Amino acid sequence: MESVIVAIDGPSGTGKSSTSKAVAAELGLRYLDTGAQYRAITWWMVSNGIDVADPQAIAGAAEKPEIVSGTDPAAPAITVDGVDVAGPIRTQDVTSKVSAVSAVPEVRTRITELQRSIAREAGGIVVEGRDIGTTVLPDADLKIFLTASPEARAARRSGELKGKEAGDLAATREALIQRDAADSGRKTSPLAKADDAVEVDTTELTLQQVIECVVTLVEEKRAAR
Ligand code: DC
Repeated sequence: MESVIVAIDGPSGTGKSSTSKAVAAELGLRYLDTGAQYRAITWWMVSNGIDVADPQAIAGAAEKPEIVSGTDPAAPAITVDGVDVAGPIRTQDVTSKVSAVSAVPEVRTRITELQRSIAREAGGIVVEGRDIGTTVLPDADLKIFLTASPEARAARRSGELKGKEAGDLAATREALIQRDAADSGRKTSPLAKADDAVEVDTTELTLQQVIECVVTLVEEKRAAR
């Protein structure tokens, strides 16, 4: 499965990360979490006192942080200027600001270039995000678009947050819907299904079933090459 490139897109709470990591591990591919890169640049903006409501200030600083992403599906790592930010990028503060930062075109250009060079050099990779099949890697060998009902997505996200910063289910659902609307409504490379992507509705599926479905699709692609 040497150089196969798989793009997995979809809104939050559809099981994208868990599925992408498991598929990459099972098929011996590298793995890239592009949401973590947008979170990392957001973390850097916040840490450096840049007003995330000011797109010009964000644009002016977009080239400054050095973001390095690991691609091991068993231990995805991310550093900014040499600092391990795997934990800090998952806070509620970063989550609430990432849509604003990732909507700025200069940020997207910077991060998209980074993603393309990682994918080019990986020798086979699963890349998960929002615009991978449409914008970042339009020539990907296989494009998957994961969906699920808002209720299922909020329940999964709440489960992930349990014991950390979980609010109630209704608040999680509301925050998630707002973030998806911002990610889908932005001008530059919004969250969207590519015309040639396979849509998988995960509402009624277990994680294991989604993983099996995607592994089968990748194997079918490989057999047809
Ligand atoms: O997958 P995630 O929740 O960690 O992503 C965080 C944010 O990053 C998400 O709200 C939108 C943005 N994002 C993006 O704009 N494009 C991508 N390819 C991946 C994520």
